[in-house]
Amino acid sequence: MRKLLCLYIIALWAGAQPAIATRQVVLSTTVPRTQPITCPGYIASNVSKTGDGFVAELILAGPPCALYGMDIKRLKLDVRFDTKNRLHVHIKDADGQQFQIPDNVVSLDSGHGVRNASSNLRFDHLHDDLSGFGFRVLRGDQVIFDTVGHPLIFEDQYIEVTSNLPADANIYGMGESPDFLRRNPANTIKTLWNRGSPDLFQQNVYGSHSIYMELRDSQFHGAYLHNSHGMDIVLANSTIQYRVLGGTADFYFFGGPSALDVIDQYTELVGRPSRIPYWALGFHNCRYGYKSVYEVNDVIANYSKANIPLEVAWTDIDYMDRTRDFTFDPVNFPLAEMQKQLAYLHGRGQKMVLITDPAILYNSSYEVYARGHEQDVFIKNPDGSEFIGQVWPGYTVFPDWFALNTSSWWSGELRRYFDQLPIDGMWIDMNEAASFCTGSCGTGKPAGSTPPYPWTLDPQPPHRILDVNNTFLVPPYAIHNQEVELSDLTIETTAKHANGVSEYHVHNLYGHMESKATHDFLVNYRPNKRPFILSRSTFAGSGALVSHWTGDNSATWKDLHISIASAFDFGIFGIPMVGADICGFFGNTTEELCARWIELGAFYPFSRVHSALAYAPQEIYRWKTVAEAGRRALSVRYALLPYFYTSYQRSVENGWPVARPLLFEFSHVPAVVDNDRQLLVGDSILVSPVLVEGATSVSAFFPAGLWYDWYDYSVIKGTNNNVSLSAPLEHVNVHVRGGKIVPTQEPAMTTTDSRKNDFNLIIASDEHGAATGELYVDDGETFDTAARWVQFSYADKSLSIGQRSGQFKISQPLSKLVLLGVAGVSNVVVNGSSVHANFKAANGSTVITGLNIDLNVKSVITLK
Ligand SMILES: *[C@@H]1O[C@H](CO)[C@@H](O)[C@H](O)[C@H]1NC(C)=O
Ligand SMILES: *[C@@H]1O[C@H](CO)[C@@H](O)[C@H](O)[C@H]1NC(C)=O
Ligand SMILES: *[C@@H]1O[C@H](CO)[C@@H](O)[C@H](O)[C@H]1NC(C)=O
Ligand SMILES: *[C@@H]1O[C@H](CO)[C@@H](O)[C@H](O)[C@H]1NC(C)=O
Ligand SMILES: *[C@@H]1O[C@H](CO)[C@@H](O)[C@H](O)[C@H]1NC(C)=O
Ligand SMILES: *[C@@H]1O[C@H](CO)[C@@H](O)[C@H](O)[C@H]1NC(C)=O
Ligand SMILES: *[C@@H]1O[C@H](CO)[C@@H](O)[C@H](O)[C@H]1NC(C)=O
Ligand SMILES: *[C@@H]1O[C@H](CO)[C@@H](O)[C@H](O)[C@H]1NC(C)=O
Ligand SMILES: *[C@@H]1O[C@H](CO)[C@@H](O)[C@H](O)[C@H]1NC(C)=O
Ligand SMILES: *[C@@H]1O[C@H](CO)[C@@H](O)[C@H](O)[C@H]1NC(C)=O
Ligand SMILES: *[C@@H]1O[C@H](CO)[C@@H](O)[C@H](O)[C@H]1NC(C)=O
Repeated sequence: MRKLLCLYIIALWAGAQPAIATRQVVLSTTVPRTQPITCPGYIASNVSKTGDGFVAELILAGPPCALYGMDIKRLKLDVRFDTKNRLHVHIKDADGQQFQIPDNVVSLDSGHGVRNASSNLRFDHLHDDLSGFGFRVLRGDQVIFDTVGHPLIFEDQYIEVTSNLPADANIYGMGESPDFLRRNPANTIKTLWNRGSPDLFQQNVYGSHSIYMELRDSQFHGAYLHNSHGMDIVLANSTIQYRVLGGTADFYFFGGPSALDVIDQYTELVGRPSRIPYWALGFHNCRYGYKSVYEVNDVIANYSKANIPLEVAWTDIDYMDRTRDFTFDPVNFPLAEMQKQLAYLHGRGQKMVLITDPAILYNSSYEVYARGHEQDVFIKNPDGSEFIGQVWPGYTVFPDWFALNTSSWWSGELRRYFDQLPIDGMWIDMNEAASFCTGSCGTGKPAGSTPPYPWTLDPQPPHRILDVNNTFLVPPYAIHNQEVELSDLTIETTAKHANGVSEYHVHNLYGHMESKATHDFLVNYRPNKRPFILSRSTFAGSGALVSHWTGDNSATWKDLHISIASAFDFGIFGIPMVGADICGFFGNTTEELCARWIELGAFYPFSRVHSALAYAPQEIYRWKTVAEAGRRALSVRYALLPYFYTSYQRSVENGWPVARPLLFEFSHVPAVVDNDRQLLVGDSILVSPVLVEGATSVSAFFPAGLWYDWYDYSVIKGTNNNVSLSAPLEHVNVHVRGGKIVPTQEPAMTTTDSRKNDFNLIIASDEHGAATGELYVDDGETFDTAARWVQFSYADKSLSIGQRSGQFKISQPLSKLVLLGVAGVSNVVVNGSSVHANFKAANGSTVITGLNIDLNVKSVITLK
């Protein structure tokens, strides 16, 4: 709570400052501090106006508190109204010595700059006698960020910024961390330090995303801190507090006011989600532990025999020769057999994706290493020797994405690999970067003295002597990284990049930079083909390069549940193509869990089953009930492919996520603020999965309005209450939202074949007998394809098909209309002429078939 006695509101452009005093502030007790903080804060002066904002000087207001390092005495405040709904507030050291993310690593949109008067946001800076400089960001009269009363602490290795929040605030985002959707406002620590660990509840894992959104009075706003350092973001005591291990306080604020607006504004800044090939929306199968290419051939055949649509066959590190990148096991996965498998898949419209890790075996007779060594592309120890960790193949070095020649070396290696086996997409794993030892454990070992696979450290490396006085190894403030040291199981923080920067500053960028190098290769190698890359580690802006799966989860009911919130989180992070390992990665799944998981996983934007070595196989044809659940749920997914693709195009153009919590569409309904047990695909399809063992019904929330059952067209009149739905083992509840029009195609066994079928429209009328919808179509694979946006609107028993934009020629006609909530139709008139059609009544709805309507032109279709 704020207890400010005297607060001087200083007009934005005023110069004079009242005297200040220091005071003691006791910060959150979630993380007990050994002593109260006495930090003086800063005084603002020399405020001067610029065309689209202003700058000011901040001077340390008293003796340094040296809380976790050296207080920086002179700072610069730079405020800019980037766009109408985006405000940039950057507090940096006046000397410009603190590390900042280079523009070419994460390129931010700079906005056109607007005069403050035309912004929806306002900035006030204020002076408080006790805590010094503070600032507020306002939207209208609402204060959305407020540091007043909390001294700014700005030291070389510690920056602390605290903002007041309302009691019991609704906060979303900040990760990556498996958690419930709504962050506990009284006790949350989100640590941003990329970590290659299993998905443990509420811990820091693979990626770093500082964006958060807050819902207040039915409206959303957001804030993003652009900083690559390790940090804790703490929610407690009605505040949000950033504790950052370096860099600058580089904030962006987003005015919303809807959730989709905030994500639109955020992805406009960090990069819109990349376009994906249409096939990526198909169903994927993977497993770590396939013994041979022949076993994978059997898997492909068995999916087909079971009539389950398999789009993409994946192979994990098993295919490599002794787990070395860009090689093939000569006995179990010989290249010639892999080539045959790829040709077989391509002949059937299916695809192949294989894994690659960044760690490169340290062995000079391994040519990938030798070429990289020669080009000087690997990360170094402080003494200039190569940093050598340990990953699957043994002692390994790590590409330094900052080095001059790394990108061309990486492209060269990928080119050799793709020239042998032109796979359809890439899976880049272990790029936090993960290592199985701590420190440069291979240093001093002869090149080639690789410990045997699997990765036992033999002989054990000498006991590591940690230099506790090195503040990169042991920073004065310990973030809540869930390892003993920051450097545990990753590249050591003292390791050096070619530009002289220590890993300490850029650790969180490793996966993002590998994503960029990999993306660059693919767009060069296959100009005009959209790459598909799946990356485990991500950073702000990675959505423009890669898709993501939520990493190494477990076959538990809890992880089934949490997977929904994780997908929502990545929607907020601007990486909408996301999904969890269906049926669970670690641990033996059960038939029931796997059935329930495919019923949910069929609706993840990225839908892949994957399991770990030594656990029971879980291809979904393995049990009768799972196969049936999979066939049914995937047939809904495949019917919805045009709708998924249209939703994804909304991500590409506006950042809007495909998988959405009810909250994003019904922000005025208090009951949904923490609903992470149901998921909306786009804005129209509500999935209510079973997440509880043994359950045969599910309690699902239905917002006010009409909701139509996908299968039998029966209607639920939503009253902002829960409804108990029957959910036998092989059934997942799916409802179409009244007021929406959803384009579908008859499902086939591949996305390519599905695309050849006629279009259908599900017209779900609302209480007033009206509905709207849209369809986006293009060739699904190139960048320069023509496209077409078709608009649908239905009212008064009349459907209008409109053409919003584009020249793509849709060759399939619209042949079927499912008119939900409208009975008794027996006549179809297209543009004034009666046409032949067949009619079937079903539960108060009408199904009209036998139509042949051109989707490339406008028309008005009357249904009487
Ligand atoms: C919140 O602050 C008050 C007063 O400083 C303190 O007594 C309380 O323990 C704090 N609670 C938490 C959760 O930090
Ligand atoms: C303010 O500006 C004046 C003149 O440009 C300069 O002399 C002075 O040092 C500045 N004050 C601070 C605190 O930076
Ligand atoms: C814009 O700046 C003027 C001072 O030039 C200030 O009075 C006004 O409050 C600012 N408006 C907004 C919306 O921040
Ligand atoms: C494929 O199906 C056959 C026949 O049911 C079975 O014997 C075999 O184990 C299956 N193989 C795999 C890899 O699923
Ligand atoms: C990078 O490659 C160029 C030629 O492609 C070479 O001249 C240069 O020496 C290389 N740089 C390093 C650091 O090896
Ligand atoms: C180094 O690589 C060469 C060539 O692949 C191989 O013959 C040798 O066994 C490797 N050495 C070790 C210790 O792995
Ligand atoms: C760390 O610094 C302290 C104080 O200067 C010193 O006593 C200690 O020996 C140092 N430890 C190491 C491992 O260098
Ligand atoms: C898991 O399944 C594997 C293979 O089917 C089996 O060997 C193992 O014993 C199972 N583990 C447990 C804990 O049930
Ligand atoms: C209503 O359903 C939602 C979603 O399953 C669930 O999270 C919530 O707890 C339910 N509420 C009640 C009162 O049962
Ligand atoms: C109509 O809906 C009910 C559920 O309300 C369902 O039991 C019945 O099977 C449906 N009828 C048809 C023809 O689909
Ligand atoms: C319907 O009429 C519009 C203009 O009135 C025309 O452009 C369109 O081609 C017609 N559609 C069909 C299917 O005949």
